[in-house]
Amino acid sequence: ATAPADWDRPLEGKVAVVTGAARGIGATIAEVFARDGAKVIVADIPAAGEALSATANKVGGTALALDVTAPDAAEKLAEFATERFGGIDIIVHNAGITRDKLLANMDEGRWKAVLEVNLAAPHRITEGLVARGALKAGGRVIDVSSIAGIAGNRGQTNYGASKAGVIGMVDAESPKLAEHGITINAVAPGFIETAMTAAIPLGTREAGRLLSSLYQGGQTVDVAETIAYFAGPASNAVSGNVVRVCGQALI
Ligand code: NAI
Repeated sequence: ATAPADWDRPLEGKVAVVTGAARGIGATIAEVFARDGAKVIVADIPAAGEALSATANKVGGTALALDVTAPDAAEKLAEFATERFGGIDIIVHNAGITRDKLLANMDEGRWKAVLEVNLAAPHRITEGLVARGALKAGGRVIDVSSIAGIAGNRGQTNYGASKAGVIGMVDAESPKLAEHGITINAVAPGFIETAMTAAIPLGTREAGRLLSSLYQGGQTVDVAETIAYFAGPASNAVSGNVVRVCGQALI
């Protein structure tokens, strides 16, 4: 293959979906994708309304109210993207939640909610888009795991299990998606400064920052740029990988 004509806009003409894009890492992924030339569909829960519109305006993208756990999420997304843009080239399953509790208090509701948003929904949506032919050949699926899915974290049995599951899912889906000419990769961020990590108790938060060799939290753009690599032409031959984005993690 030859190099694309314009490395300044490597995603020119591509249609990219980012879930959980109203704020945090997802909003920055949308910004980076738009900078790289993509048409971006930013999706988030209906309650994220105004923040989601703000992201869409900022990146010149299109907002879609979409709870990724809705049974018809894939169908809705496939219809929306196909009608407006003729299909999807890139999807980033960035939407994610925490419901932390120490093991003894880890009730069924917290367990199920986290597994559903972080693990089951990305799988269901990827499968649903492929089954409907909405994800084009040459397409990219990018999942968001976490260092908590590699090293584990106190109080995060549910979250760690979901994010470790994402890594297993990427491994398993990679050969299957290859049959459709689609790659799948994941990033595993360490401690990134967002509303999600701002909600962690202070001591744990500081400990998280210190686990990066940079001795500070990463920024959302650090994750977004790695994702942009998986979305772009530089990673044509790369599938089934997980890249840590946490400084040179000490764990
Ligand atoms: P955040 O909490 O700031 O943003 C998450 C977004 O996902 C929110 O806008 C929220 O409304 C949306 N969302 C939640 N449930 C949803 C659903 N059912 N359907 C659609 N959207 C939904 O979180 P942050 O920090 O930006 O995290 C983004 C991703 O990165 C998550 O998957 C998270 O687990 C992962 N991550 C974050 C790390 C960090 O240090 N901040 C570290 C490792 C992974």
